Amino acid sequence: MTTCTFPIAKKRLLLGITGGVAAYKAAELARLLTQDGIEVHTVMTQAACQFVGSATFQALTGNPVYTDLWETNATHNMAHISLSRNVDMILVAPASADFIARLAGGMANDLLTTLCLARDCPLMVAPAMNRQMWENPATQRNLSVLQHDGVKIIGPASGEQACGEIGMGRMLEACELLQAVSAAFQTDNLLQGKNVLVTAGPTFEAIDAVRGITNNSSGKMGYAVAQAAMEAGAKVTLVSGPTCLTPPAVEKLIRVVSAHDMLHVVQAEIAQIDIFISVAAVADYRVEKVSQQKLKKSESKLSIALIPNPDILKTISSLPKPPFCVGFAAETENLERNAEMKRRKKNLPLLVANLAQTAIGSNDCELILLDDGGKHVLSKAPKIEQARRLIKHICSLYQQ
Ligand code: C5P
Repeated sequence: MTTCTFPIAKKRLLLGITGGVAAYKAAELARLLTQDGIEVHTVMTQAACQFVGSATFQALTGNPVYTDLWETNATHNMAHISLSRNVDMILVAPASADFIARLAGGMANDLLTTLCLARDCPLMVAPAMNRQMWENPATQRNLSVLQHDGVKIIGPASGEQACGEIGMGRMLEACELLQAVSAAFQTDNLLQGKNVLVTAGPTFEAIDAVRGITNNSSGKMGYAVAQAAMEAGAKVTLVSGPTCLTPPAVEKLIRVVSAHDMLHVVQAEIAQIDIFISVAAVADYRVEKVSQQKLKKSESKLSIALIPNPDILKTISSLPKPPFCVGFAAETENLERNAEMKRRKKNLPLLVANLAQTAIGSNDCELILLDDGGKHVLSKAPKIEQARRLIKHICSLYQQ
């Protein structure tokens, strides 16, 4: 089996600093990150400049520090685009309650929020604030919006605060933040040079000219898996059934309607694919005789004959030289037993099991990964986070 490659290019990180006492810890963080071989570019809000001086960060990172959206600097014309385009990650530490609120609202009223909005790289924020600000429903609401948007929240910790109170809100220590950055960079580029095909969403099987059979799948999990594979450096082809979601900026997006369409597209693409992740909730049956006209209503009973659809995943995993195949199984009962049976029947190295009642359509889910090594539980988290964990697990198996 082919192995993943690990390029050793220097990582570049944009360190955002917002106004809070914990800004002093960001200096130690900048030192540790730089010492770890990461190229650090610092952006400070006006409030951050009240707590620490920009010269400190310039000296520690060896790079210019940016504080103003309107700064005229020849090397950074359109600073809001170029700064965030040229980094592998943005880390905002400390992230104040005000910054989190502006980020959650999609605002771009200073350089840092503008960069966050105009980014195409992962974003992590390390909150730091007084315990009451942390507990305030508005802050918690904003944090859940960010989580839903795929932003990684690290910390805070509980303990004594600068104001003398004790509680949640202390920013994590610099060494803990460094660990989080290193862990995130480990996923990054794991799939560099690999072609990944993800199917997502439901399929729609026509009954007549206007009606059809479909299911509740929202496509959220499949789109999150496509996004996470992209973040890991893969070239992603997303084959999507009908959804209302905005797709991630994948290499190739192919929209399909029925299971048959999906099968044909997957078969046409599969020769170039290293990893096939079948997240789609493919309809098991289709209508035997689809009426080209709208069926007329009558008083009598209507029976529609259904015939089985081809199993796309099984078709692919049964190829003489299949790609690494990953299946998903949503079950309503006997989750693990049924899922493991499916894994064996479809001859898959990995199957992801989830409870249909809690997973379909929701933003969070618990996943159970079943492979030859047994089971691995991914405790409840937003789907984008689960997708990133899944991609890491796929890489660990794929490299064996
Ligand atoms: O057998 P079951 O439908 O529960 O298996 C789920 C897995 O099989 C999913 O990965 C799904 O995408 C895939 N599947 C498929 N074609 C079908 C039915 C399911 O590829 N017709």
